[in-house]
Amino acid sequence: MKALVLSGGKGTRLKPLTNTTAKQLLPVANKPILHYVIEQITEANIKDIGIIISLETGQSIKEAIGNGAKWNARVTYILQPEPLGLAHAVKTAQDFLGASPFLMFLGDNLIQGGVTSFVTEFNITKPDALVLLKEVPDPRLFGVAELDKSGKVIHMVEKPKQPKSNLALVGIYLFTPQIHEAIAKIKPSWRGELEITDAMQQLLDKGKTVRSHILQGWWLDTGKKDDLLEANRVVLDDLLKRDIRGEANSNSQVVGRVEVREGTKIENSTIRGPVSIAESCHIKDSFIGPFTSIAAGTTVQNSCIDHSVILENCSIRNIERLSDSIIGRNSEVTRQEDSIKSARLFIGDDARVEL
Ligand code: G1P
Repeated sequence: MKALVLSGGKGTRLKPLTNTTAKQLLPVANKPILHYVIEQITEANIKDIGIIISLETGQSIKEAIGNGAKWNARVTYILQPEPLGLAHAVKTAQDFLGASPFLMFLGDNLIQGGVTSFVTEFNITKPDALVLLKEVPDPRLFGVAELDKSGKVIHMVEKPKQPKSNLALVGIYLFTPQIHEAIAKIKPSWRGELEITDAMQQLLDKGKTVRSHILQGWWLDTGKKDDLLEANRVVLDDLLKRDIRGEANSNSQVVGRVEVREGTKIENSTIRGPVSIAESCHIKDSFIGPFTSIAAGTTVQNSCIDHSVILENCSIRNIERLSDSIIGRNSEVTRQEDSIKSARLFIGDDARVEL
């Protein structure tokens, strides 16, 4: 079995951060989302991975993943010159995929517990496709599946105005090469894209078997459904383990599931997990509270931060309370004497904010 990871696109929804970074590379708990994706694929023992990239962000994706050796995998990059849809991406990858069955994984999606059990089920039951579904509050934003009383998929529609169910198609699919024939038969949708949902409907129309699974665990979709703060909260809550490699002086307290990477210094501060602090940070006279990730090279001084994501090389000083905030790279947030007490910020890279 091979895997096809879709990692193109522009990520307009996550602006301003994606002005400078591919959305699949935004860090969740100090690790790019795409790294979790590759981990989940290789955990399922799939080592031959094609990654679809775009002209805009392809180079940064290549730099972040390399040849896959880090995961004991072999990575092939496939350029999709224009974002013409998920089914178009599969078409573009046809030479790579050949006659192999494959796992298709959208590079900004993640599911709790990984994909191993679905890959096993697909290999044993041998349907033509296997899709994952998840109940969502607003199915109009997704591909939607309709099931019959026995739970069999009878219909799939891409972003219906009047959804027949609340079951969204999760961006993780398993296919046999039958999907290529189905893709050859579909036409672009109203948004000008070749939709993988339409190709799967083709399979259904031809009487092929499409199995489905309704996910009970979490599903992150940072390209659409979840913002970075929510993804950070979910991943810190579920996956973070205590691992202290930096130094904390004797006046500091590091409580609970906290990760402190090499070269980071904590002085006269309290860190209450779940918190991830990456390499070479300096935390002084501060409180870092639950669900916070601080990326490498950041300084926090005389401040209190919780439920926030701070990217690389920032400086946060004299902020009495910073909550629910996302701070882009190389940004500086400081407070003037006697000004506001609490701030909620979403600022892009290279910003300078004085409060
Ligand atoms: C795509 C699929 C959609 C699926 C969604 C999951 O949507 O077309 O069926 O529910 O991913 O993230 P898109 O990101 O192209 O809008």
